[in-house]
Amino acid sequence: PKKITTHVLSEMKMKGEKITMLTAYDYSMAKIVDKAGLDVILVGDSAANVMAGWETTLPITLDQMIYHAASVVRAVHRAMVVVDLPFGTYQGNSKEAIASAIRMMKESGADALKLEGGSEILESVNRILSAGIPIMGHLGLTPQSIHKFGTYTVRAKQEEEAQKLIEDARLLQEAGVFAIVLEKIPATLAQKVAEELTIPIIGIGAGGGVDGQVLVIHDMLGINQEFSPRFLRRYHNLYAEITGAVGNYIEDVKSRDFPNQREQY
Ligand code: KIV
Ligand code: NA
Repeated sequence: PKKITTHVLSEMKMKGEKITMLTAYDYSMAKIVDKAGLDVILVGDSAANVMAGWETTLPITLDQMIYHAASVVRAVHRAMVVVDLPFGTYQGNSKEAIASAIRMMKESGADALKLEGGSEILESVNRILSAGIPIMGHLGLTPQSIHKFGTYTVRAKQEEEAQKLIEDARLLQEAGVFAIVLEKIPATLAQKVAEELTIPIIGIGAGGGVDGQVLVIHDMLGINQEFSPRFLRRYHNLYAEITGAVGNYIEDVKSRDFPNQREQY
């Protein structure tokens, strides 16, 4: 299968073909979603939540993200692999940002990086791009800044914040990022950005007027039950499936049904 590149994604936007993206953090899951035909795999720092059980995405380290990303890259043939640079590895100064970016690219083999923020991180974005590393932007609800906002509610409902988001999106496109994720903002605003910009806009909780969609795979497969925002569509109830399977295993072992004659040497 033909490898998905930034060029392919750009063509998809021009043709009006929607881009599909999900997270994955490990080899086995990445293998499945790649074979299923997904366009982009995001090694999200949401790994901090769904893999490690942290309350926020802030604690995950560059080394831990490299471990997740390298595991995913080893499984993937077709999808583009985008990796989040974690909190604290690019915001401080652009020299630190380029060092983090180069380490991630070298040690994981990923295709591109994702960074949260607009004008605040422009210097870092420019420096990473100048090294030939593709960047995906991320605006709207940016979980690495949760302590600045205090809540995970919808962003950019007010005119001032909406205007800043549009300007940040323009700024990132001018700098040369190849796509932008818009998280949890009004659908009309997201559509406006997608129509104005020439690069693909990928939404999560941003409505259907954008160029593609992304979800956290544990959420869409129903592995965790607590997280139920309006934007989440559950495609499976893996929590129930796994609970049932584990329950059957326990029953079979306790009752001495497992292993049977054919399951031993
Ligand atoms: O880390 C993540 O999973 C993300 C997506 C929600 C866009 O950044
Ligand atoms: Na993220």
